[in-house]
Amino acid sequence: MVGFLDTLVFLEQDNNESQDVDNLVSFEKDWDKNKVMLLSNQPHHLISNISYRAAKPKSEERDYKTKSFELAQVVRATCLEIDEPSSDSYLKDVLGKYTKKWLERTHHHLGYPINSNFDYSVLGELNRFSINNVGDPFIEGGYGVQSRDFEIGVLDWFADLWEIKKDEYWGYITNGGSEGNLHGILVGREVFPEGILYTSKESHYSVFKAAFILRMKCIQIETLTSGEIDCNDLKKQLLQNKDKPAILNINIGTTVKGAIDNLDLAIQTLRDCGFSRDRFYIHCDGALSSIMLPFQDQVPRVTFKKSIDSISVSGHKFVGCPMPCGIQIARIEHMKELTNDHDYIATRDATITGSRNGHTPIFLWFALNRKGKQGIRTEVKQCLDNAEHLKERLKAMGASVMLNKASIIVVFERPPEKEFIKRWQLSCTGNIAHICVMPHVTSDKINEFVIELIEKRSTWYKDGGKQPPCVASDIGKENCVCPLHK
Ligand SMILES: Cc1ncc(COP(=O)(O)O)c(C=O)c1O
Repeated sequence: MVGFLDTLVFLEQDNNESQDVDNLVSFEKDWDKNKVMLLSNQPHHLISNISYRAAKPKSEERDYKTKSFELAQVVRATCLEIDEPSSDSYLKDVLGKYTKKWLERTHHHLGYPINSNFDYSVLGELNRFSINNVGDPFIEGGYGVQSRDFEIGVLDWFADLWEIKKDEYWGYITNGGSEGNLHGILVGREVFPEGILYTSKESHYSVFKAAFILRMKCIQIETLTSGEIDCNDLKKQLLQNKDKPAILNINIGTTVKGAIDNLDLAIQTLRDCGFSRDRFYIHCDGALSSIMLPFQDQVPRVTFKKSIDSISVSGHKFVGCPMPCGIQIARIEHMKELTNDHDYIATRDATITGSRNGHTPIFLWFALNRKGKQGIRTEVKQCLDNAEHLKERLKAMGASVMLNKASIIVVFERPPEKEFIKRWQLSCTGNIAHICVMPHVTSDKINEFVIELIEKRSTWYKDGGKQPPCVASDIGKENCVCPLHK
């Protein structure tokens, strides 16, 4: 087995106290899904070490450090059974209850990079149609209920943003940033079948998943405290593997710290190590920030004028969309290897899936038209300002905090109370938590959160008993104000 969960362990719910990992059931090196389901009939927590590995002999692997972490509660016991035939009033009642819950959850949402500040109510009519863009967006195909005109409009908009001519790119609207990464890395692998994938250890898991699916050798590169790729380590690894082409994933905003990898330095590093342009492929994972950087001043440019080959972005993140979606754009010259013709759909397909959501291109087209470039610029500025404001408020209350340049992800010490984390849907990694200051995270919402956090901290850390965690190794000594570093 080449990709696996190293350890999958379960434990009973335990009143929010810390977990004793040694006492847990453990399924070493194998994941029996049936067992998971069986055990998950009761509420419990999952703790897991997950690492995706490429198919390669163990001796070639770098030391992939995996951390134990707790997954959200698995609730297999509650489900909405299909109870047919159901009355309309029952269906309405259930949906009404869920709408209430979703409204509340949307209000208290801070940790994940989605933008819930949208109004697509005028697109309600679309629900009457099964819109499907199966196959290549640039070829009409046999199925007529499609939205390719909208899709190409959106692709052209992004091509213009990232500075590639219309006849020099190929792309499509994906199901999200992960699919874009899989596609970009697949294109890189097809261009260089022998290539090695390099990506920083703070990359999104979809990059490692892509390496796993594509059975590619993947080398994790160290990061700086900011979360950026460490080009010294990149150099070391490239020099050890000079005989194989390089497929490099560059993060335009890492998931946890919003760090922007130094693209120019990475390209220079490739060249310094003897990799000429015909021996490397660069995919940019720009899930959140590749739409934001072009609207900021004095930040690194994401552009096809540099030696890059593909970029992906999520559509439901900064733009905002009720359904997951994304945009993937690659240099058209690389697509030859990947394109297949299919009789059945009377078109070609170089995408990952078969049927593709034909609604999302319309939502994105609508949003981009409505906001316009000026509207997006204004939203970007507002989010950056609000992120700075949140950082200052956290600092003022005595919390450890970091905010990278050009980022809207505010990283701070992990609150010790699970209920609080859950209430605000904070995303946590080890001792740190973060808030993505997206367009719906207004200054009023920040205020509401900060007031609650101040009150909570006064109970968590009262009388000098329990102390806030040390986060120096995560965000640097200069940003850590734990008892040791303040
Ligand atoms: C850096 C990065 N890449 C990729 C993804 C995956 O995007 P999606 O959730 O749209 O698949 C994320 C999601 O948060 C991300 O932060």
